Amino acid sequence: MSIEVKDLSFCYNRGTSLEKRALDNVSLSIGKGEFVLIGGEIGSGKSTLVRHFNGILKPQSGSVTVSGMASTDRDVRHKAGLLMQYPQKQLFGRTVFEDVSFGPSNFGIKGDALEQRVADALEQAGLGRDIGSLSPFSLSGGQMRLVALAGVLAMQPEYLILDEPTSGLDPENRSSLLATLKELHLSGISVVVVSHQVCEFLPLADKVILLDNGWVSFNGTPVEYVRSVSSPLPEITLLMKDLIREGFDVRDDILSIDDAFEEIVNALEKRGAGQDE
Ligand SMILES: Nc1ncnc2c1ncn2[C@@H]1O[C@H](COP(=O)(O)OP(=O)(O)OP(=O)(O)O)[C@@H](O)[C@H]1O
Ligand SMILES: [Mg+2]
Repeated sequence: MSIEVKDLSFCYNRGTSLEKRALDNVSLSIGKGEFVLIGGEIGSGKSTLVRHFNGILKPQSGSVTVSGMASTDRDVRHKAGLLMQYPQKQLFGRTVFEDVSFGPSNFGIKGDALEQRVADALEQAGLGRDIGSLSPFSLSGGQMRLVALAGVLAMQPEYLILDEPTSGLDPENRSSLLATLKELHLSGISVVVVSHQVCEFLPLADKVILLDNGWVSFNGTPVEYVRSVSSPLPEITLLMKDLIREGFDVRDDILSIDDAFEEIVNALEKRGAGQDE
């Protein structure tokens, strides 16, 4: 099963002088178990697209289905959980526990099972369970983001959709969030990340989709991305391209430091062997 978007178009303020077309005939597919990265410039339609995945926005033309269910079905939010671009807006409880438990308790989960759900979700989001008694509004911006993430995870969605999850986080929290997302993905959850920091997520992604002014300008694997898109590219890929220009026999589709290290060592060994002959 998958998220299927077919010929989706969407205008804000339709029929008024302020009409703004945000999505223009978008078609794409996000497979179950995939880690999909959605990039594109400011205002290209990324948030508008993912707000369709859990039914916050309804297609004006075209369709969106999640595991076969129309995104207009109320229950779609149990399949696709969205961490919004400004997750502070998602918080409302007097305590973190109240906030994180809201979704599952509405779903009829109570007592020990509810406590366990909340504890598991806080742990998955990288927060201790001690935080449960605090007011979410007494936390830092980064912690609020993680509490909102825990609230989404407490619903145990099939698809976890995150809109700019690392913006405003310090480097330490960024890398711990990346590690959390990697683990969640390995545990079987499908992950969709919207980010301006495409390079940061490239090594984790199975698929990259770029939006440009409301239409899909690129849809391919990370390797296809670094081969066909000129920017932004990871520093490590740029280094490999520089080495190729200097005559080194290395690949140009490297995404991680570990792979670059292996590739450079092999190239140096080949050079050494060539000089010995
Ligand atoms: N509530 C709204 N009312 C009117 N126009 C809107 C609204 N939300 C978004 N838009 C417009 O729709 C277009 C797409 O916006 P969207 O928020 O989807 O872009 P985005 O790619 O998520 O941008 P960003 O990278 O800044 O988050 C933009 O031109 C934006 O100005
Ligand atoms: Mg956005």
